[in-house]
Amino acid sequence: MTEKYRPQIHMTPDSGWMNDPNGLVFFNGEYHQFYQYYPNDTVWGPMHWGHKVSRDLVHWRELEPALYPDESGMCFSGSAIVDWNNTSGLFESGQPGLLAFYTSFLQPNQKLMDGSTFENPIQQQSLAYSANGIDWHKYRDGAPIIPARGNPDFRDPKVFWHEASKAYVMVVSCGQHIEFFRSTNLLDWQLISEFGYRHGAHSKGPWECPDLFELSLSGTEKSYWVLVVGIGEGAHCGGAGTQYFIGDFDGETFTNLNHPEKVLWLDFGRDYYATQSFSDIPAEDGRRIVSTWMSNHQYSLELPTESFRSSMTMPRELFLFESAEGLRVGQRFTKELASALSTDASDLTPENEQAISLYSQYSVMHLGCDIELDEEQVLHLGLYQDNAAFFEFQPVEGGLEVRTVRRGEFGTERIDEHFPHDYRVVLPTHSSFSLEVLFDKGSIELLINNGEYSFTNLLYPNNTQASAVMSVDSGTLRARNLITKSRAGEA
Ligand code: FRU
Repeated sequence: MTEKYRPQIHMTPDSGWMNDPNGLVFFNGEYHQFYQYYPNDTVWGPMHWGHKVSRDLVHWRELEPALYPDESGMCFSGSAIVDWNNTSGLFESGQPGLLAFYTSFLQPNQKLMDGSTFENPIQQQSLAYSANGIDWHKYRDGAPIIPARGNPDFRDPKVFWHEASKAYVMVVSCGQHIEFFRSTNLLDWQLISEFGYRHGAHSKGPWECPDLFELSLSGTEKSYWVLVVGIGEGAHCGGAGTQYFIGDFDGETFTNLNHPEKVLWLDFGRDYYATQSFSDIPAEDGRRIVSTWMSNHQYSLELPTESFRSSMTMPRELFLFESAEGLRVGQRFTKELASALSTDASDLTPENEQAISLYSQYSVMHLGCDIELDEEQVLHLGLYQDNAAFFEFQPVEGGLEVRTVRRGEFGTERIDEHFPHDYRVVLPTHSSFSLEVLFDKGSIELLINNGEYSFTNLLYPNNTQASAVMSVDSGTLRARNLITKSRAGEA
């Protein structure tokens, strides 16, 4: 598929509109990734669940949509699990199958299934099932398994098995908090607790797309529970962003380990929203792999692609680490990425002691190096030939200041007003750090210290051939172990 800004290794819909990743699940040797999908246009519309499968998290094959909107509503975001023991009773006895939990969204001009009408929008949790992962059926024609509860924003169910309490748990966002439900048969659910009032970041809109899972602290026996929550507007540098809480979950209640006002962002870029993790990855693998919608509701409808809109980030593996300011969640690219890239096809030219230029003949380039900065020295990383964006790194009191600047005019008011940014954050890390940048058409993903901190940004340079210039404002540029890998393909 060729198109100026069609990513080469990031997942995109073949055509049409995509937003959140949904129902991420590993089943019969394949990763299934569903997503919010509108096939008939490149803007948001009546939501389907699009469907792709992959064996390596890099090459995705598109299948027929799994769920279609109908009189039970549009199919909003949600999650999937393998029902290994046919607990739901929806499969042939002894056979496992997939269950998808999603939000049915009814608009006021629609009729309810009993023929009645209603005044306010209704969001309720529904269930779909599939024995082979490909052909899907709505349970009771999409009728809710958890009916509307009064709040018009009640959506995005994430379901998982909680071993210690021997029950399934569903995490749902409701207004600006999270509700936890419990079930032992996957069909009947009881509300057990709530979390979120006065915790973390809030804005005008509802919390969205929650996820909850356990992560072990690298190098120790300890583990913690991580609750991931999207806020659609008012995030660190404008528009949507993904925050997380670290704490404990006993099967009933989530307890935040940090002060309620502490806000933790999973990524410091503009285009990182609705993060979800894969369910049922085999225990011997044990990774917590996530996928994230690489866009921002502030301008997502007007981005300069033609036959499709939106892509997902490269799948990433989460890990927990101890930073100078306490526990944090980091994310590294999965090891499968390496198999999609081949050895250096680019030209590394030291210009002088202060600068290095890197040019690839392709649009996909993965660049890595170790940097050591002197006190006050500023490292400038300019991206693409027209310097469409740049990063600056400088040691400051309290850590490393990272400035990220993105320019861009695309001739539509909404995107021209919101797309550019100039954002600074101080990270609790040192003047020696490692850098990794993944270039693909339309995006840049930058990781610091093997993923302790990440910055994910869309970018639409005039010339999509990957290139960068690294330079320091004074002294010498100390960049070691510089490697670049590319992927032969379009520039
Ligand atoms: C987040 C979101 C979800 C909702 C879906 C609808 O991007 O607003 O809360 O389920 O998109 O497409």
